[in-house]
Amino acid sequence: MKRLRLLCALISFTTLPVLADTASPDKDAFVTNLINQMTLDEKVGQLRLIAIDDKMTPEKICQEITAGRIGGTYGSVSRYVNRPMQDAAQQSRLKIPMFFGWDVIHGHRTIFPIGLALASSWDMDAIELSGRTAAKEASADGIDMTFAPMIDVARDPRWGRTSEGFGEDTYLVSRIARVMVQAYQGQSLNAPDSIMSSAKHFALYGAVEGGRDYNSVDMGLTRMYQDYLPPYRSAIEGGAGAVMAALNSINGVPAAANKWLMQDLLRKAWGFKGLVISDHNGVTDLVQHGVARNPRDAARLAIRAGIDMSMNDSSYGPELPGLLESGAISQSDIDDAVREVLGAKYDMGLFEDPYRRLGAASESAADNNAENHLHRAQAREVARKTLVLLKNENGLLPLKKESTIALIGPLAKSTVDIMGSWSASGVPAQSVTIYDGLKSAMSQGSLIYARGANLEEDQEVVKYLEYQGVSEIANDPRPAEEMIDEAVKVAQQADVVIAVVGEPRSMSHEAASRTSLDLPGRQSELITALKATGKPLVLVLMNGRPLSIGKEQKQADAILETWYSGTEGGNAVADVLFGDYNPSGKLPITFPRSVGQIPNYYSHLNTGRPYLPGALRNYTSQYFDQSYGPLYPFGYGLSYTDFSLTDMALSSTTLNKTDNLVASIMVKNTGQRDGETVVQLYIRDVVASVARPVKELKNFQKIMLKAGEERAVHFSINENDLKFFNAQLEYVAEPGEFRVQIGLDSQDVKEQSFELLSEQATQDNHPPSAEPVDASGAAIRLAHEER
Ligand code: NOJ
Repeated sequence: MKRLRLLCALISFTTLPVLADTASPDKDAFVTNLINQMTLDEKVGQLRLIAIDDKMTPEKICQEITAGRIGGTYGSVSRYVNRPMQDAAQQSRLKIPMFFGWDVIHGHRTIFPIGLALASSWDMDAIELSGRTAAKEASADGIDMTFAPMIDVARDPRWGRTSEGFGEDTYLVSRIARVMVQAYQGQSLNAPDSIMSSAKHFALYGAVEGGRDYNSVDMGLTRMYQDYLPPYRSAIEGGAGAVMAALNSINGVPAAANKWLMQDLLRKAWGFKGLVISDHNGVTDLVQHGVARNPRDAARLAIRAGIDMSMNDSSYGPELPGLLESGAISQSDIDDAVREVLGAKYDMGLFEDPYRRLGAASESAADNNAENHLHRAQAREVARKTLVLLKNENGLLPLKKESTIALIGPLAKSTVDIMGSWSASGVPAQSVTIYDGLKSAMSQGSLIYARGANLEEDQEVVKYLEYQGVSEIANDPRPAEEMIDEAVKVAQQADVVIAVVGEPRSMSHEAASRTSLDLPGRQSELITALKATGKPLVLVLMNGRPLSIGKEQKQADAILETWYSGTEGGNAVADVLFGDYNPSGKLPITFPRSVGQIPNYYSHLNTGRPYLPGALRNYTSQYFDQSYGPLYPFGYGLSYTDFSLTDMALSSTTLNKTDNLVASIMVKNTGQRDGETVVQLYIRDVVASVARPVKELKNFQKIMLKAGEERAVHFSINENDLKFFNAQLEYVAEPGEFRVQIGLDSQDVKEQSFELLSEQATQDNHPPSAEPVDASGAAIRLAHEER
């Protein structure tokens, strides 16, 4: 990076005035005017998003930029490195500014909890704070765009990227998608502290077959429209400036070649007006997918499908001019894509000021990770809200700070894993480990430690995971038995044992799919040995996906799911373990009993022969060799206080198509401590033209109640909440019975019914009826790529 900075600086001796007509309020006219001045090479250059890595020398990068052959880069993360590249762009014929992208996924320099953890907070303000803080830090480092949020609905936790997203539920993911986009982009996209959001991965990446990364997706349209597409649409409605195409195929057509997806759906039906970027190598991968004969064919398919910019480009640059010359693509294929790239740069304010997020050279920080650049208080505040208390027998938690605590486990002192994967520009040395967090919270008492186990024993696996990046996977060379014995001896000296177990972050990552959801390595044996000491046992889980912890769940007295909680994770975990913060997180994804139960999401269809608790199990839909249902359901999470739900009521037993109905419930904090909980509203459409899920989340409220306080919570329900995509892909609400369920998780609910009246009945009640509500882009023809 330093070399790049110096070499670029050599060729950027002056900064010429920018070309942009900054006074022009008319983006289209501005962009058209610029396109009219561009050569073919310059146009193709704008469509190339190039990685800053070792593949190109710094001299070459600068030359290419000045020659107008690179439109943007990703992977460089400081003003130091980015400014000289912008200088190089200002030396180019038309001085079109560069933009700088980066994976700012859950924090930038201050690392916030991973996506799955953020979703566990069910707290939109906290999630917003994480995104806004990340945008501030990233923009201050000269970054203009983030490849986030990752909003792929994920229902198969074998998929390593489950950790990056917001869980299994369409509604929750959609809410968060919008919040994150707006947090990154701020009040105005061209503000110096805003970064453009490139929502990803469009589409359906979370549904890869078998949870195996990059695998195909084969999905019926009803499910696609109903369950998997809404989050992307929500991001777009939230104003996302860009979208990243997924790496997977959809019903045989890879996303990067999928004209139906990129044009009919995204642009025509949803009205998206921003930039579409391929994923890394996504264009040339079309050859391996088997839909393109060679890179030239891949470039043709991608540009015609609507992929504007090619990430890590190796095909647009060399192939587009030849394709144009041969007539395989048209001038407008290229111009349309260039228009989107320039439009995005315009929206980011870069034509007005290419140095908008770079500042003056004199303002470059010498140390981007200086402590005073971090937002530790915000990270701790958010992290506390993401922790989920799964078990707390006999009120073992919170612990007393004066105790002797045995802290055991391979993740207890990890500075790297606690940051989670995709930890942008976070620095491990700045992480507060769980050991550090507990230690600094304990005034008296003592903290004794043993590693207890390695995270993985299979050396082939270790080698693979090390390739994914640094983590605690590095093995302690001692035999497993010796490590367990040592841990048991430490445990025997303590009042209480905390075992910090889980997965290294490299297991919950891209290209890190698992066939098992068990605790890896010898950690399960370690827990059994710790249990045998008879000491109270707290499991602190650190992982990026639900794990099958049926056995460990029985052994532990208390379990706290901490996911990967970021730079301030150790302090946040200590806050909860010692009761300085009362946990309020709820699972955004189901914990299965075993990997064999997958998929195991709460909003499933009923089947014709549903399993009925207590009834004869023969000929019902279930696995005969395991108890039915999840280990922990979606929406589940305990508190140090208790809540009761009573007096559920509906304002009416019927709903007209044009009215609202109010569902109410009394929520009481029946315990001794103030606390927050999430009141969740689910709806079931009992009879419809297509089978509907047993329940679907439709709304929620996170509320704080003082000890003993009782409050009514109200949810308004209207026809829109009851709509779904029918077999013709029309977005409709069908009259009939609906069940409303309210609970503090998805399983334990109170229920009431109402009837949605037919159009006729509605008109009888409201004679001059209003216009019917728009079907919001339904009825999309499945137009596959025309060759
Ligand atoms: C590949 C990943 O799939 C994508 O999510 C990421 O944004 C790019 N690499 C760039 O790092």
